[in-house]
Formats: sequence, C-alpha cells, structure tokens
Amino acid sequence: MPVLLVFGLFVVIATAHNITFLEVPMYGDPHQEANLVCHYMNDQGDPALHSVKWYRGSNEIFRFTPGQQPPTRTFNSTAGGVSRGSCNLNSCAISVILPRNYNTKLSFTCEVSTEGPRFAVVKQTKELTVAVTLKEDPVISGVPGTVQLGEDVLLNCTTKPAMPPANIVWYIDGRPDRTDFGTRNNNTPVSNANDFNLRSSWRAIRLRVATSRGFMALRCEAIQPMQPPYIRATNATLVVARSPHLSMFTAAGSSSTMLEATVLILTLCISVHIFSKYSALSEV
Ligand SMILES: *[C@@H]1O[C@H](CO)[C@@H](O)[C@H](O)[C@H]1NC(C)=O
Ligand SMILES: *[C@@H]1O[C@H](CO)[C@@H](O)[C@H](O)[C@H]1NC(C)=O
Ligand SMILES: *[C@@H]1O[C@H](CO)[C@@H](O)[C@H](O)[C@H]1NC(C)=O
Ligand SMILES: *[C@@H]1O[C@H](CO)[C@@H](O)[C@H](O)[C@H]1NC(C)=O
Repeated sequence: MPVLLVFGLFVVIATAHNITFLEVPMYGDPHQEANLVCHYMNDQGDPALHSVKWYRGSNEIFRFTPGQQPPTRTFNSTAGGVSRGSCNLNSCAISVILPRNYNTKLSFTCEVSTEGPRFAVVKQTKELTVAVTLKEDPVISGVPGTVQLGEDVLLNCTTKPAMPPANIVWYIDGRPDRTDFGTRNNNTPVSNANDFNLRSSWRAIRLRVATSRGFMALRCEAIQPMQPPYIRATNATLVVARSPHLSMFTAAGSSSTMLEATVLILTLCISVHIFSKYSALSEV
C-alpha cells in the first residue's frame, strides 16, 4: 500500500509540466501595459500541454488552449484585462492593462495543465504593485565646496515626479535628522500633480557644521510608501576647511601689522623728536 501511494505521487510529479519561471514585475506603471510571461516545460514523453490560464486575483483573464480554435481567449479586457497575448508550448506572454489605483497590489497566477489521463495542474502566483517608481536618485542641492565649523548650511533634497510620492528622510553622519526646515508635521512636501498625475517631493534641512572628523556624511533617502517600499538614495559630504578660521585670521593679521607699523613710526618720530631736543640741549 505505501509503495502504491509513493508510486502514485511519482506519476503526478513526473507527468505534469512545471513552471520554470513566472515573470511579473514588482511594480507596474498604469500609463503602460505590464508584460507578464509564464515559462514552463515538461519531460520528453510526458503528455502534451492542455492549457495555460492566467488569473488576476481569482478572475480568469486569459486562456491558451493549443488544441482548440481559436487557441487563445481573453476575458474582461476592458476592466484591467489583457490587451494581447502570445503563447506557445514553452511560454505564454500577456500584456495587461493596469488600473489607476496607485499602491494597490494585484496578484497574477499562471496555471498550466497537462493533457489526460491525469490533467495534472501546476500554478504559480506573483504580486504586482501599481506605482510609478522613481527613475532617478534624489538630488541634493546647496552643498558648498567647503564649510567652516559652526557655519549654518541650508540643503535641499528633491525627487523626480513619482506616484505614490516619496517620503524623504535625511541622515547626518548615519543618524536620521528630525530638525526639518520649512516642513510641518514631519510630512514631506510634495509638488502639484503633473500632466501624468505624478508628484515630486522635497525636504530641506538647516544644519550647523559640528564635527571632529573634518567632514560630515549626508544621505537623502526617498522612500515610496508601498509594499515592498521602493527606495532610492543619494549621499553627499560636507568638507570642513582645514584651518577653520584662516580667512578671519589673515584679515586680523594684516590689520594688526598695520597697527604695529603705525606704532613703530610714531615711536620713531617721538624718539627722533626727543633725540633732537636732547641734541639741542647739549648744544647749549
Ligand atoms: C522542471 O522540470 C525539469 C525537467 O523535467 C526538471 O529538470 C526541473 O528540475 C523541474 N523543476 C522543478 C522546480 O520541478
Ligand atoms: C470579470 O470581472 C468581474 C469583476 O471584476 C468578475 O466578477 C467576473 O467573474 C470576471 N469574468 C471572468 C470571465 O473572469
Ligand atoms: C527645495 O526645492 C523645492 C523644489 O525645487 C522647492 O520648491 C523648495 O522651495 C525648496 N526649499 C527650500 C527651503 O529651498
Ligand atoms: C552612503 O551612505 C551610507 C550611510 O550614510 C552608507 O552606508 C553607504 O555605503 C553610502 N553609499 C555610497 C555609495 O557611498
């Protein structure tokens, strides 16, 4: 009996196609169609492919049945369905129209069934989040060539338009910064929606230069609040001038030299005067 059971299990595994790879992008831009591909294979001598079905959630959106005419059928093509499909005995690719509900998760399932006698079925599911991800790293502006200790620096970090808009977090020497400048309630300010309904984010900080290392490490992280979150970041360095008050020292130095010279000249004049007075006296 146990031998029969094991044998039966072996037959099920060996006669089914298997899904070798399911291509579903993690994020999908609703302005474009998402391209999904299901790759599958079976062992030589196994029964032929019966059908490939694609589901969005629990709704079937596409079916490929190589033994039927027409071999492909599309369901629900208007409400976020399939615009076209191209399938063969090894893969089945579909283009899906996405809804405009940002930050929603859609699950896509590829189901492959093998011809009888068993009609074994294998399936795999992956999720796609509707979002326009940041195509570039955020940009840090306002970084001076060098800074002085104690100097105040105003920095701004901005992102390109995206949706949902990114939240921005600054890190100074590895620690998150809480002292926002020009922001309220710790919210990242966002721009108005552009023609594609996307928004860019920005966050400015005012920072007093204080370090014993000669530099400060800055990092701006832009995080799109999705599941999973999409993060892009940029680093920058504030380089502290080697002699912090060199320019001030030079300015002070030159004026004191002038003062010294004046004193010297005055002293000279007085001495000459005294000397001439003395000479005059000695002449008498
Ligand atoms: C899929 O089938 C191929 C061919 O039979 C096999 O080499 C491979 O290990 C199988 N993969 C999985 C994940 O079952
Ligand atoms: C089409 O979509 C609706 C809701 O989105 C669902 O109730 C229906 O079952 C779908 N039809 C097919 C054939 O999958
Ligand atoms: C930061 O940059 C944004 C986008 O350019 C701008 O709207 C904002 O006023 C800037 N903030 C500061 C404090 O400079
Ligand atoms: C950027 O800074 C972070 C810490 O602030 C560090 O972990 C990371 O390696 C840096 N990345 C680059 C490219 O320098």
